This record gives sequence, structure tokens and C-alpha cells, in this order.
Amino acid sequence: MSTARSVLALSKVVQPWARLKSNAANVVRPVMCSRREKSSYTPPPAKYGGRHTVTMIPGDGIGPELLNHARELFRFCCVPVDFEVVNVDSSVTSEDDINNAVTAIKRNGVALKGNIETNHNLPPSHKSRNNLLRTSLDLYANVMHCQTLPGVQTRHRDIDIIIIRENTEGEYSSLEHENVPGVVECLKIITRMNSMRLAEFAFRLAREKGRRRITAVHKANIMKLGDGLFLKCCKEVAAGYPDITFDDMIVDNTTMQLVSKPQQFDVMVMPNLYGNVVSNVCAGLVGGPGLVPGANYGENYAVFETATRNTGKSIANKNIANPTATLLASCLMLDHLRLHDHASVIRKAVLKTLSETQLHTADLGGQGTTSEVVQTIMQEVQRNGFLNPKHI
Ligand code: NAI
Repeated sequence: MSTARSVLALSKVVQPWARLKSNAANVVRPVMCSRREKSSYTPPPAKYGGRHTVTMIPGDGIGPELLNHARELFRFCCVPVDFEVVNVDSSVTSEDDINNAVTAIKRNGVALKGNIETNHNLPPSHKSRNNLLRTSLDLYANVMHCQTLPGVQTRHRDIDIIIIRENTEGEYSSLEHENVPGVVECLKIITRMNSMRLAEFAFRLAREKGRRRITAVHKANIMKLGDGLFLKCCKEVAAGYPDITFDDMIVDNTTMQLVSKPQQFDVMVMPNLYGNVVSNVCAGLVGGPGLVPGANYGENYAVFETATRNTGKSIANKNIANPTATLLASCLMLDHLRLHDHASVIRKAVLKTLSETQLHTADLGGQGTTSEVVQTIMQEVQRNGFLNPKHI
């Protein structure tokens, strides 16, 4: 699948929440087309009977129970998706499990996953399973749409930020060594190729969504070569998008600006680790890790998960985790598969249920349980008449 079309799929994804910012999406782009723009999009093909097979990686902590709810909800809504479940055991050092998961995603094209625990005490050569998955599938763009949500009390209102994070390199290279005792070198890799394609992805998405401004986040004042290259690539791509204002901000100032005046941001693009930090700050701004979905896109595959990628181990199997982020991630996945009607009906029911404050789970200050929330979502789907055969 081409990047351009990933973005098209994503535009559907973001659409239900997005407010109309402008009609800039209709502006014709200058002739600076990349190879990816010209290739045609082939979504993962439906199989016999119009059904899709999607890889499901339950992961650790709250992942298995929340993905189980997603599966039940899909069944209830007659979503034509079958899950191929691949378990990844985070406690073993062998990479066989994660290799099986990668093979399954290569076969199916799409995955829905819970986060996999990363043991901090293993040797530096041990790579995070989540990271291995993203690099093996070359899922170079992570996208998170952070928006003020109905019924969720937060300090700031009217937040509507799209964050695009480089997902395969930067500080996540797992290249560390201590050749001289007491002196550790930890390599941060920034390449022109990845920076250019990420910037291209970001600008295309911004245009698709009618967004007006992109801010590149960096620390080029200190990392003059590494972050300097990232910033240079963003500037280069920006020159082909005169309809979108481009600016940049140093990462430390960015986090301060985010917690004091988040409404100033529209679309943000950044290298890997800053993306992680900024995503977590933004998720916190709109209500927390249980609410925001995330998507990882590459040329050929897409993997959907919660935006902040926590495992929530301490609340696992207690029926208290907020299922919203996982269920919205499953909606992003349905949009990606072009099952827009199903995505839309589930998303509406999830957001309607979220607006019922008496059902809020503990993370939002309530006493609701995960299963009560999911039951209410199902009732909401039923109330909207989606189970009527004419809709299916
Ligand atoms: P965590 O899993 O402890 O979660 C942080 C907080 O958010 C906890 O209070 C948790 O209860 C809450 N929370 C998370 N999801 C929730 C939900 N759905 N509903 C209600 N509350 C929820 O986060 P931590 O300590 O950052 O990470 C735990 C594990 O995940 C570690 O193994 C870490 O390595 C891994 N991880 C991996 C990432 C990656 O991208 N590779 C990113 C973040 C974490």
C-alpha cells in the first residue's frame, strides 16, 4: 500500500472527530509528486464472503482483556473481520514469537495489538518486541489524533492536535555500548530517507485534513547534525506545500507550550523519542492513556494500538481498564480496511458512551467497569438500529 493512500485511509479515520478547519484540502498540489503518490492503493483484499483476516496480538497487562472486548464488539456488530491471534511472550529472550507475529502481519496486512512489556533488566542487545515489530514491518509513521472528548473533564478544552512521529529510528536504535567503563554511548540515528518520507507523510495528511499549520519539533540547537537533518528535511518538504504554514519549535519549549496553551498546535511532526514524550503529554491533556487510539503506517502494513502504548499491568484482569482507546483503535483499523460504516457506528457508540459520565472508569474518576462500558456501547449500537439487516 502506498503512503499516499495510507494517508487517504487515515483521512477517513480522522474525519469523524475532525472539525472543519478550512477547505485547504482542495488546493491543488504543485508538481512535486513523489513516487509514492503515483502508485495505486490496494487495501488488504477481503477473502471469501467479503471477510478480512486481521492479526491480533493481545500483548501484556490489560491488552488481552481489552482486545477480547474489541473482538466481542465486532462479533456483536457483525463486522466481517476474523482475527488470527498470535501471542507474544515478553518473558522469553528468543525472538521466535515476535517473528511469528511479523509473519502473520505480512500475510494479513493489518494488525490490532496490545502493548508488549519490555523488561528493562535484559541486556542492551535485547530489543523491545514492540520496536522489533515496527522496524521489521517498516511502520515508519505513527499517528495520533488528540482531541477534546465528550464528557471528559480536562483542564484545557478545544484541543485538536495531530501528532506524527517517526517510528523506526532516532533514539530507538538499540545501539548502545560501554567500551570504556563508566562511559556509555547511545546512538541516535537520523536518516534523510526516513525524515523525508515522514515529512511527506505529515504534509500530505495535513492537506488531506484541511489543516493549516505544521510544527516540526526538534532539538537542533544542540543536536545540530541529527535533529538538524530532520528539520532540514521538513523544511524541504514544506516548500512543496505553500498552502500549509510551516514552523518549528524546540522540544523543551514545545512541552511547556503544550501544557500551558495546547490550542495553538494544529499538526506536529517529530523524531521518535520526542514523539513518545509529546504523545504522552497530549494524551494526558485530553484525559489519559485509556482514551486515545494510535496507528502505525508503512508502505505495506498498518498496525493499530493505543496511542500511548502502556501495558497497564497494575490494573490488568480487574475489569477497571478504560476500553475507549482500544475500541477507537479498532475503528481506525476498520477505516483502514474501508469498512467505514462499521467504523462509524462503533465510534459513535463509543463516544456516546464516553459522554455518559456515570459510566466512567476509575481513570476518569468514576466507578464504572470495563464490561459495563462495553455493554452500554453494544446497547447504543443496537439502539441506533445498526443490527438491522439493511445496514449489514
Ligand atoms: P503503565 O502501563 O504503568 O501505564 C501508565 C498508567 O496509565 C498506569 O497508571 C495505568 O494504570 C494507566 N493506564 C494505562 N492504560 C489504561 C487504561 N486503558 N485504562 C485506565 N488506565 C490506564 O505505563 P508504563 O509504566 O509507561 O509502561 C509499562 C510497560 O509498557 C513497560 O514495560 C514499558 O516498557 C512498556 N511501554 C512500551 C512502550 C513502547 O512503545 N515500546 C511505550 C510505553 C510503555
